[in-house]
Amino acid sequence: MNREILFTIEGADFDAWTKLAREATPNLTLIPDLPADGTKPAEHPGIHYCLAWRPRKGLYARVPDLKVIFALGAGIERLLADPELPPHVPLVKMAEPGLTEAMIHYVLWQTLNHHRRFWELEMAQRALRWVEQDYPAPWNRKVGILGLGALGEATAAALRDFGFQMRGWSRSPKAIPGVACFGGLDRLAEFLDGLEILICLLPLTPETIGILNADMFRGLAPGAALINAARGGHLNESDLLPALESGQLSAATLDVTSVEPLPREHPFWRHPRIFITPHNAAETAPATGLLEIARQIARFEAGQPLEHLVDRARGY
Ligand code: NAP
Ligand code: GLV
Repeated sequence: MNREILFTIEGADFDAWTKLAREATPNLTLIPDLPADGTKPAEHPGIHYCLAWRPRKGLYARVPDLKVIFALGAGIERLLADPELPPHVPLVKMAEPGLTEAMIHYVLWQTLNHHRRFWELEMAQRALRWVEQDYPAPWNRKVGILGLGALGEATAAALRDFGFQMRGWSRSPKAIPGVACFGGLDRLAEFLDGLEILICLLPLTPETIGILNADMFRGLAPGAALINAARGGHLNESDLLPALESGQLSAATLDVTSVEPLPREHPFWRHPRIFITPHNAAETAPATGLLEIARQIARFEAGQPLEHLVDRARGY
C-alpha cells in the first residue's frame, strides 16, 4: 500500500519530513498543501488523509475526499474549535513514542526539581551560599497526575519506576500497577488529599478549563508543587501568586500559559519560584509519528477502529 498524506504544517521543513517519511516507512508519500512557488493553495481531490495542526482557512474544502484527519499533536482543542472542521471526518490525536518519551523526560526533570528542590540549590549558587538540604525518599513523596491518557499513564508508570508514590486521576477508572488510580469527579478530593507534587496532563475541555485553581490547591499538602505541562487554560492564573505567597504552593513549573509566548512584562517570568518553559515539554517526533500514522491507516483500511480517535462530544 502506498498512501498519500496531505502535509499542511506551516513552517515545517517539507523536504526534511519527506526524507524522514521515506526512511520511516515506504508506505507514505507526503503531498505539500502549497505549490512549490507557495502561491495559490491547490485543490486535492483523491487525497484521503491529512496531517494538520493550524489549518489554513479553506483547507478542508480543498480536500473533498478526506477520510481521516491526523493531528500533529495530542491536544486538539484548537482543531476542534475550528468551525471549518468537517463534522463527519474522524479526527485522530497524536500518540507516538517520541512524543511520550519527551513528556516523560520533561515531567521527570521537573518532578526531581521539586522533589529535591534543586531550584533552591541554583538560587544558593547565585547567592554564593553553601546550603544543607533534607529530602524524603521518593517512596515517601506523594505525586499525582491529572489525566491518565497516552501521556499521563506512561508518565505515571515512569515516575513509579523511579520510586515515587504515585496516584492518577482520570474520567473513567483505570488500573495501572503500582499507581493508585481514582476515576471521576467524586474521587478528586481523595486523589488530591496530601499530594506533594501535582502534575497536569489533562486535555483542555469545558470540564477542565480552570481546574488548577485555589480550591484544588487547598486540597493538596501545604507547600505542594505544581507542574502544568498540558494547556495554559487549565490554570486559573490569578490563583497562582496568592497560593505561592500563602505557602499553599511552594513552587510551580509552567510549560504552558494562557497567552503564548508569555508577555515579557508578565510577573510569572520574574517570580523566583515559578519555572517557565516555552511550551516545549513534548513534540511529535516526525519519524515515529509518521510510522504511527501508517499503522493507523493500515488499521482503518482493514476495517479496524482507529485508535486515539477524538470524541467530539467530550472534547478530547
Ligand atoms: P489523552 O490520551 O486524550 O488523555 C486524556 C486523559 O485525561 C484521559 O485519561 C482522560 O480520562 C482524562 N480526562 C479528560 N477529561 C477529564 C475529566 N473531565 N476528568 C477527569 N479526567 C479527564 O491525552 P494525552 O495524549 O495523554 O495528552 C494530554 C494533554 O497533554 C493534551 O491534551 C495536551 O493538552 C497536553 N500536551 C502538552 C504538550 C506540551 O508540550 N506541553 C505536549 C503534548 C500534549 P479517560 O482516560 O477516562 O478518558
Ligand atoms: C503539544 O502541545 C501537543 O498537544 O501535542
